[in-house]
Amino acid sequence: MAETKKLLRSLAGEIQDVPPVWLMRQAGRYLPEYRATRAEAGDFLSLCYNSELAAEVTLQPIRRYGFDAAILFADILLLPQALGADLWFETGEGPRLSTITDAGGLAKLKGKDDIHEHMAPVYETVRILSRELPSETTLIGFAGAPWTVATYMIAGRGTPDQAPAHKLRTEDQATFDALMDLLTEGTIEYLSKQVEAGAEVIKIFDSWAGSLKGEAFTKYALEPTKKIIAELKSRHPGLPCMAFPREAGEQYIGFAKATGADCVAIDNSVDADWAAANVQVDGCVQGNMNPKLMVTGGQELIDETKRIKKAFSKGPHIFNLGHGITPDADPENVHVMLEALRG
Ligand code: CP3
Repeated sequence: MAETKKLLRSLAGEIQDVPPVWLMRQAGRYLPEYRATRAEAGDFLSLCYNSELAAEVTLQPIRRYGFDAAILFADILLLPQALGADLWFETGEGPRLSTITDAGGLAKLKGKDDIHEHMAPVYETVRILSRELPSETTLIGFAGAPWTVATYMIAGRGTPDQAPAHKLRTEDQATFDALMDLLTEGTIEYLSKQVEAGAEVIKIFDSWAGSLKGEAFTKYALEPTKKIIAELKSRHPGLPCMAFPREAGEQYIGFAKATGADCVAIDNSVDADWAAANVQVDGCVQGNMNPKLMVTGGQELIDETKRIKKAFSKGPHIFNLGHGITPDADPENVHVMLEALRG
């Protein structure tokens, strides 16, 4: 049967007059209904592990905007927690984790196959969504890329330059490489179960890929993504995979071919015309409007939406932001963007 879902058609290489659209962090604090459901759950992590409510917040932006894709509501830091790390969120600041700084700390973590009991509520969220989503909406499962997840596990928090992770990889490469291997293998098991539960596409978020250069980028951003995609595609033939090596710059070129990804998501530090000429030549790209425009709106939002649509119009494209929509975004601006895109 010919594929009818708009997002899957772009992932298969089709060029569409109106590209499919969804937004990173589309379920989030800019939506009053999200804030209400989060309050009902108690806090962010309780929301992630409450399958009914996590499915509810995933569906909220679909109901409000009719996006072409829904992304599972969860977080990339659930995997470290499933592996035995402590995880909590400091209000107004962000995530905090117990740190891994040496072989002793690493040895205390669980194995790649020990995560599923902890993750059972996440898989249940996926099952609920695959029943409840409209038939035209694609369900995206996701995980963090090993490098990005490792940066949080090593530092115990988000860091502007990922210095603690760079320090460990240069000073104790054996421990660092063993952590990367555990995360790569654990991510394969985690994503594979999401697919078994009903995720139709998977996305790998490498938010801090841009701080890896040259050989380190190849070894710690490209290779793990390639390994995860190859194993998932061998277990689930035909599974479309998206990669997001954020701020990879020139290293976006050839990334899809080298990793086997069906689509590369582009951040907004990259010019859309450059990405069309250099990255989209290999297949579908996703992106890449500046999330700030969802705050400021106006004619600039309309013009930018049309400019990006046009820049990517000669190849397969999924319209999205270059990073997540922010809590101060105006929900009305999403309608403005959709009107400019869909006409
Ligand atoms: O709607 C969606 O996009 C799906 C759910 C999703 C969340 N986080 C929910 C979330 C996804 C795909 C993520 C990915 C994620 N999480 C990334 C990679 C993408 C990126 O943004 O670069 C990273 C680095 C994280 C880790 C993380 N989670 C941080 C650093 C923070 C704190 C910063 C912040 O935005 O508050 C979170 C919290 C988080 N994850 C929220 C949401 C909706 C906000 C939590 C809240 O409601 O208070």
